[in-house]
Amino acid sequence: MHNTNTYNYQVVRQFALMTVVWGIVGMLVGVLIAAQLIWPELNFGIPWLSYGRLRPLHTNAVIFAFGGSSLFATSYYVVQRTCHARLFAGGLAAFTFWGWQAVIVLAAVTLPLGITSGKEYAELEWPIDILITLVWVSYAVVFFGTIAKRKTPHIYVANWFFGAYILTIALLHLVNSAAVPASLWKSYSAYAGVQDAMVQWWYGHNAVGFFLTAGFLGMMYYFIPKQAGRPVYSYRLSVVHFWALIFTYMWAGPHHLHYTALPDWAQSLGMVFSLILLAPSWGGMINGMMTLSGAWHKLRQDPILKFLIVSLSFYGMSTFEGPMMSIKTVNALSHYTDWTIGHVHSGALGWVGLVTMGSTYYLIPRLFGRTEMHSVPLINMHFWMATIGIVLYIAAMWIAGVMQGLMWRAVSADGTLTYTFVEGVKATYPFYTVRLAGGLLYLAGMFVMAYNVWKTVAGQQAVNAPIPDVAAAPA
Ligand code: HEM
Ligand code: HEM
Repeated sequence: MHNTNTYNYQVVRQFALMTVVWGIVGMLVGVLIAAQLIWPELNFGIPWLSYGRLRPLHTNAVIFAFGGSSLFATSYYVVQRTCHARLFAGGLAAFTFWGWQAVIVLAAVTLPLGITSGKEYAELEWPIDILITLVWVSYAVVFFGTIAKRKTPHIYVANWFFGAYILTIALLHLVNSAAVPASLWKSYSAYAGVQDAMVQWWYGHNAVGFFLTAGFLGMMYYFIPKQAGRPVYSYRLSVVHFWALIFTYMWAGPHHLHYTALPDWAQSLGMVFSLILLAPSWGGMINGMMTLSGAWHKLRQDPILKFLIVSLSFYGMSTFEGPMMSIKTVNALSHYTDWTIGHVHSGALGWVGLVTMGSTYYLIPRLFGRTEMHSVPLINMHFWMATIGIVLYIAAMWIAGVMQGLMWRAVSADGTLTYTFVEGVKATYPFYTVRLAGGLLYLAGMFVMAYNVWKTVAGQQAVNAPIPDVAAAPA
C-alpha cells in the first residue's frame, strides 16, 4: 500500500470521488433556492430551510466542497506526476482529506442553524476557521514538500498556479477572518466600517481570483495538454500570464464597492485594475485554446476535451464581462440585479464546473486502473446537458438583470419612478423559471456523471501508478 515506488493516489481518489458527491449536494441546494425564489413556500416555514440560510450553504458547498475537493484532487495528482515524486508527508495529506471533510460537514450544520460571521464566502465561525487554517497549512506543507523533493529539473507551470492559489488563500483567510470571539459560535470582525468592507472584498475578489481561477488554471495547464496529446501552446506566454494575473487580481477588489462609502479614488483604482485584468485572463485562455492548434479535429470525437475547451470559452466570456461590469457607469446598472448572478454562474457553471468535470473524467479511470470511463456516450450526454443548462441559466439572468436595472431607474415625465419595486419582481418570475430549468438540467448532468463514475470504479482495484526513476519529461 505505502509503496514508495508508486504515486500516492489514495488521497487523490478520495477527493475525486467527493468532488462528485459535493457537486450534487451543492447544486441540489442551488436548485432548491432557485425554486424558493419562485415559490417562497418551499421553505416549509422551517427556519433551517429559509432562503437566507440555504444561500450561503449553496455557495459554501459548491465553492469549497465541490470546487475545493477537485482542487485538492487535481493539485495532488498533478504535483506528483510533474515532479516524479510521491506526495510528501502522506499522513498529513490524509489529514487534509479528513480535515476538509470535517470543515464541510461543520459548515453544513452551522449555516442552516444560522451561525454565521456574516462575511460573504467567509461565513464560517472562528472555531471552523481555525480548523481551516490547520488543514490549509498542512496542504501547503504537502504540496511544497513534494515540489522540494521533485526529480524533474523544472517546476511545471500548472504547479505555479496551484502554488499561488495555496499561498494566497492562506493569506486571504488569515487576514479576512481575524475576529474577536464573543462565545463559541459568535465573533466580531477585527475591522470596522468601511475598512471591514474593504478587507472583505479584497478577500472576496481574490477568492474568485485564486480559489475559483488560479487553481483551476493549474488544472487547465495540465489536463488540456494531456487530453489533447500536445504540449502547451506557449510556455513563455504561460509565465507572463502567471505573473500578470496574480499581480493584477490583488487590486481589483474595490469594484465590489462602487458608489459606497469607500473613497472614490479607491473605487476607480479597482476599476482600472479590473480593466487591465482582461489582458492576462485572455492570455491564459488563448494559451489553452491554441494548445489544440493542429488537433482541432479531436474536439469532435472527444467529450472530455469538449468539457475542457468549452470551459475556457466561458472563462473568456466571464473575464470579458467582469471588466465591463467593473466600469462604474455599467455597474450603476448591473449592481444588485440578476446580471451579477448571471456573471457569477457563467464563471461558476461554465468555467469552474466544466473544467472540473473534464478533469475528473480524465482522472477517475486512471485512479482505478482503467483506460477510460465506463461510457463515453454518457460523458457526451453530460456535456450537452451541462452546456444547455448553463445557457438557459445565464441568458435568463442577463435579460432579467438588465430589465431590473432599467425598470429601477425609469423615471416618468413628472419625475416619479415609473415602476414600483414589486413590479420588477413580478416581471422577473418567468426568468426565474427558465433559470430553474437550466439548473435542473445542470444538476441532472451531475447524476449522469455519478452513475458513470460508479460504473467505472465499482469492483475495480485502486491502482497507484509507478514513479519513473529517471528524470524524464514530466508526465
Ligand atoms: C445547479 C446548479 C446551480 C444552481 C441552480 C444555482 C443557483 C443559485 C441561486 C438561485 C443563487 C442565488 C441567487 C440570488 O440570490 O439571487 C446562487 C448564488 C450563487 N451561486 Fe449558484 N447555482 C448553481 C451552481 C453553482 C456552482 C457550481 C457554483 C460555483 C462553482 C455556484 C456559485 C454561486 C455563487 C458564488 C453565488 C452567490 C452569487 C452572489 O452573491 O452574487 N453556483 N446560485
Ligand atoms: C477579469 C476577471 C473578472 C472581473 C474584472 C470581474 C468583475 C466583477 C464585477 C465588477 C462584479 C460585480 C460586483 C458588484 O456589482 O457587486 C463581479 C461579481 C462577481 N464575480 Fe466576477 N469578474 C471577473 C471574473 C470572474 C470569474 C472568472 C468568476 C467565477 C469563476 C467570477 C465570480 C464572481 C462572483 C462570485 C461575483 C459576485 C460577488 C458577490 O457579490 O457576491 N468573476 N465580478
